[in-house]
Amino acid sequence: MTNKHALFDGGVMLKWIAAATGALCASTLIVTCAVAQDAVLLERGSYLVNAVMACDGCHTPRGPAGLDMSRRFSGGSQVWDEPAYLVRGSNITPDRETGIGGWTVSDMKRLLADGVRPNDVPVVHQMPYPHYKILTPRDLDAVAAYTLSVPAVRNQIPAPVYRSATHSTLIPGAEKPFTDDMLKDPLKRGFYLATIAHCMECHSRTPDGKPGYANWNGRGGYVFKSPKGSVTTKNITSHKTAGVGAWTDAELKRALTHGVDRTGKPFALQM
Ligand code: HEC
Ligand code: HEC
Repeated sequence: MTNKHALFDGGVMLKWIAAATGALCASTLIVTCAVAQDAVLLERGSYLVNAVMACDGCHTPRGPAGLDMSRRFSGGSQVWDEPAYLVRGSNITPDRETGIGGWTVSDMKRLLADGVRPNDVPVVHQMPYPHYKILTPRDLDAVAAYTLSVPAVRNQIPAPVYRSATHSTLIPGAEKPFTDDMLKDPLKRGFYLATIAHCMECHSRTPDGKPGYANWNGRGGYVFKSPKGSVTTKNITSHKTAGVGAWTDAELKRALTHGVDRTGKPFALQM
């Protein structure tokens, strides 16, 4: 067992180190202290990426049994063929030839917040960077550090094809970074988490496919079509009958943690 793996995959080790940070930093061992602070940052990044932001959904290849975590973040399976572009979830592992090897923390932060690569070529908003502008500086650091810590995987992805200009829409109320203080308010924290989980990217899409953050927020009605059938995004506003206004907190929690609707029926993959 290598220590590196215990740190990144073990979770327990990471939590122990995180808990011990205070004690270590009070000591004079500055190097140890820096390592422990890195562990805290990585643990926060792991929580945000794995429990909230779901980068895997677009960047980890799918096998017959679902996401293939042995080739985590190496891209290629998810394809978006739109009139304006043909893109795939990129290989975001540090592989030098086929991934993003050589990217610095600042490169990653710029991509996440502004959607621009180090070579100045922007990504299309299929990469939901407008939803990441709200990240606090600390969380942006954490997500960048964590995603850059995954092992390199060789997987060549065809280059994106940009057919015509696209423009991205900013999310009202989420145009700039939140502060740590704002996250102490439960409602603001909920808005923050729902924004970086990009719920409204699907649920505010108007039936003709346009982003409707201003007048269609949460109203649903967009139909995802796939060879396996089609599924319509639901109204998740607080409307008592059309939306989820009559659901209990427990039902909503179950929907988000177990992927089932109010009757217990499992959701389609998109959700
Ligand atoms: C809804 C799907 C989706 C989610 C969620 C998503 N991405 Fe992406 N991402 C994409 C697509 C598609 C591209 C390629 C866009 C293009 O080629 O214009 C991309 C591109 C990137 C790139 C640029 C790599 C390159 O091509 O040079 C990075 C880095 C990246 N994503 C990191 C992340 C991280 C980190 C997360 C989670 C915090 C994340 N993405 C979440 C879809 C997604
Ligand atoms: C990639 C698109 C997508 C994203 C992102 C997404 N959803 Fe959904 N959601 C759907 C679809 C599609 C359905 C309908 C699923 C079905 O009918 O099987 C759905 C269903 C739901 C339902 C069930 C409503 C009902 O009436 O049964 C709730 C609640 C919900 N989503 C909340 C959320 C929340 C909260 C988030 C963010 C944490 C989120 N969704 C993110 C696509 C998405």
